[in-house]
Amino acid sequence: MALGSASDSFENVFIKDKHINFIIEQESNRSYEYWLSEHLRMNGLYWGVTALITMKSLNDKTLAQKDVIDYILSCWDEKSGAFGAFPKHDAHILSTLSALQILKIYNNDLSMLTSEQKAKLTKFIKGLQLPNGSFQGDSFGEVDTRFTYTAISALALLDELTPSICKSASEFVMKCYNFDGGFGLVPGSESHAAQAFVCVGALAIMEKLNLLEDVKVSSWLSERQVLPSGGFNGRPEKLPDVCYSWWVLSTLSILQKKHWVDLSKLETFILSCQDYEKGGISDRPDNQTDIYHTCFGICGLSLIDYEKYGFEEIDPVYCMPTRVTKKFTKWKNTNQEQTK
Ligand code: FPP
Ligand code: ZN
Repeated sequence: MALGSASDSFENVFIKDKHINFIIEQESNRSYEYWLSEHLRMNGLYWGVTALITMKSLNDKTLAQKDVIDYILSCWDEKSGAFGAFPKHDAHILSTLSALQILKIYNNDLSMLTSEQKAKLTKFIKGLQLPNGSFQGDSFGEVDTRFTYTAISALALLDELTPSICKSASEFVMKCYNFDGGFGLVPGSESHAAQAFVCVGALAIMEKLNLLEDVKVSSWLSERQVLPSGGFNGRPEKLPDVCYSWWVLSTLSILQKKHWVDLSKLETFILSCQDYEKGGISDRPDNQTDIYHTCFGICGLSLIDYEKYGFEEIDPVYCMPTRVTKKFTKWKNTNQEQTK
């Protein structure tokens, strides 16, 4: 009797059409939970656009380009000179990066923005850097290596990175490097896999990867694979979670050590977190799906084998298609050579 094998093969299928519907419904279902909440709306839009483009399914039938661009422009905060998460919200570096990433996907020259807006954006982002090289997320002063990555990536998208910004920012990032091979939120804080992505990603954009002991970083990252599930956790002793498929594997990919983990087990874990009925991906099997884990599950599958899924190749540094990033970045993705 082939009951077991029939169910196994079903659970290893990637249900692309259901995921597309799941993403479209997030956009049309304007309920209280709509893309979590207002303050995350611009990030949510980026996660939806990124999931769709990775599946080669971003078009006017799934998400109309005009609506997306109009929404982004409606979030412009003229007082600060950057983007908020929702119309009339104050500008923040997190929503500003998401806005720029989406606009860059549609047009490498960011022609939807005036030169005055681009100059204001550059001033806003540069103004967030503190004398010790760190970045705050907005004028309220919270500092976190997430904001370093976000600011550095946004400046790269605007072609406004300078050697002096990179020098002090990379010095701050290296102060957040821990003895165990991981990175923390700020100097002295506990190692966390998402912080490894933002720190290593920022160093890659700034062409400062030479500052790293990359074997030690890659060892800490490959220890994130939890057996027998094959999924990655964010810290020792924690449960595996689909989003770390992205935070960990992208970082290993930047360091050219993807082959240090069991990619096939990771792939099975991501597929097992799909909702086979309604589409979407959750953090762990049978949990509630959301757009964040759907995006990073799909991007993780792209890093594992984009050709097998008929996906776009994703740039592990920018979390955007390499087809888009190769138009502006010096960073060279050597992803393919790691698995073949
Ligand atoms: C963990 O989130 C993730 C982070 C702390 C990193 C976030 C990184 C950015 C916002 C930079 C921009 C990123 C990209 C890809 C362009 P969490 O602790 O909420 O996740 P969890 O609860 O699911 O573990
Ligand atoms: Zn997660």
